Amino acid sequence: MTRAVIIGSGSEIAPTRVTNAQMARIMDTSDEWIRERSGVEQRHFATPEIATSDLGVAAAGKALAAAGVRKEEVDLVVFATMTPDHFFPGCGTILQHKLGLRPVPCFDIRQQCSGFLYGLQLADAHIRSGLARTVLLVGAEVHIGFMPWTRENYAYALGTSDVPPTKEEWEWNSRFRHLVVLFGDAGSAVVLRASESEERGVLDQELHGAGADYEKLYVPGTGFKHRPYTDAEQLKRGDHIPVMDGRYVFKMATTSMVEVARSVLEKNGVRPDQLKLVLMHQANKRINEYCAKALGLREVQVPHNIHKYGNTTAATIPLLWDECARDGRLRPGDLVLMVAFGAGMTWGASLVRA
Ligand code: ACO
Repeated sequence: MTRAVIIGSGSEIAPTRVTNAQMARIMDTSDEWIRERSGVEQRHFATPEIATSDLGVAAAGKALAAAGVRKEEVDLVVFATMTPDHFFPGCGTILQHKLGLRPVPCFDIRQQCSGFLYGLQLADAHIRSGLARTVLLVGAEVHIGFMPWTRENYAYALGTSDVPPTKEEWEWNSRFRHLVVLFGDAGSAVVLRASESEERGVLDQELHGAGADYEKLYVPGTGFKHRPYTDAEQLKRGDHIPVMDGRYVFKMATTSMVEVARSVLEKNGVRPDQLKLVLMHQANKRINEYCAKALGLREVQVPHNIHKYGNTTAATIPLLWDECARDGRLRPGDLVLMVAFGAGMTWGASLVRA
């Protein structure tokens, strides 16, 4: 049977490191609160000339190099992001052009934190059906575009300006504090290749989507539901910044991630202790600690990197894969479960033999 094997990975972290203490210079928050409630210690943000496609291209180039695959060999691009360069076209074709790939099919995936797993299923299906042999799967995000602060506030946070926020600016930034402290910018990519190996590859996947409560985590404005789709009033209200009911999302994430992980393990007759690693989406360290406990996993099985990068949405799972592959925690043949929950609401799990 043909399977899709991850044969290489690569990542690109945005250049500007911003600590929690720097965030606390421009809004009512603290390093202690952010660490305790989310596990984030710092994040990186893109500079103005860097778009999501750029982080994706850099990550994809490294993934191809790690896989030893030439650009001409890629015959499908899948790009997962919730922060595309433009409303249209998607980032897939932009990456195809910037990387100099052949004019292959390019899909964009709009499933937020579950985007990488949705992309993995699409890539796997193409490979199993024989439609593609070598797939580039990318997750990348530039969240800084929806951060509420002014350029001057940001310069003050970074220590390159002496002008602190006004009272109004401080209050405005603080209105979004539960959300903005969580995110960071990065790109990450994997190369998947068709293989006849019984030993390695994507073994099983389960994806879900349920939109009834989508307004618990969404961007209310700047969408084509509005006529015109964007205007100054929406920006003034902050409708371009995501709305998030943190407690609701926390509860849904823990319940759904545990359920879907159990379901995939049971279907495949795999016990939690047989997994080498469980790569969970990095939205909140407490969510993952809760899930790890509920699933009976040992600490060493559940790597985290949220403390370094924050939530990089579609990039978190491949980024974690890439880090573990590079530092030797993940080796060919290891059994890995990936689990995610994100806006939509969307969630899923993938069982993979590395
Ligand atoms: N700094 C200081 N205080 C804060 C901050 C902050 N950054 N943010 C919120 N607070 C305050 C609140 O105002 C509240 O104060 P009050 O008690 O005086 O009312 C208090 O802290 C507790 O707030 P909660 O919202 O109950 O805090 P909680 O422990 O739930 O943590 C958090 C909030 C971190 C947002 C958490 O709920 C969470 O991580 N939720 C899930 C997020 C997630 O998974 N998102 C999905 C991924 S994103 C995507 O798919 C696009």
